[in-house]
Amino acid sequence: MEKTLIIFKPSAMERGYVGQIITRFQQKGLIISGCKMMQLDEKILREHYAHLVDKPFFPNLMAAMMASPVIVMCLRGKDAINVVRLMTGATNGREALPGTIRGDFSSSNQENIIHASSCPEDAAAEVARFFRPEEIFDWVPQNIRFVYSAFEMD
Ligand code: TYD
Repeated sequence: MEKTLIIFKPSAMERGYVGQIITRFQQKGLIISGCKMMQLDEKILREHYAHLVDKPFFPNLMAAMMASPVIVMCLRGKDAINVVRLMTGATNGREALPGTIRGDFSSSNQENIIHASSCPEDAAAEVARFFRPEEIFDWVPQNIRFVYSAFEMD
């Protein structure tokens, strides 16, 4: 099973949507492998958004990501990276499809509720960036055989 990294951004924290979004992930059958609250700072954001540091919107993005504490979460599941990206929707909430998290909770390109890892390389780096190894739990819920068929289990 794959691991992926979610950040409940200040837009989710301030607007009180964390619970509804966790419910969606659990309904889907994704397993919570790690979860904690933290205040992001410039150092970690420059690493996390290294591909965007030269963009004109980067200072605004950094301020938005530091506007409140965030909740970071590691989710585990079969093809979890792609599954969570599909559930997340397009970057711009105004273009994200209804039914996706951004499509249902965001009307903004920046205040778009959650971050979700985009590929296996990023997911591995992001989980390691936000969690110490002992903060990640490789537990398997008892009901897993009702989430995936025997043929789908790794
Ligand atoms: P990006 O990694 O391109 O998208 P995603 O979050 O969908 O993987 O961008 C990271 C964040 O930067 C994005 O969630 C919100 C912010 N952002 C802006 O504020 N303006 C923009 O034009 C873009 C492309 C991103």
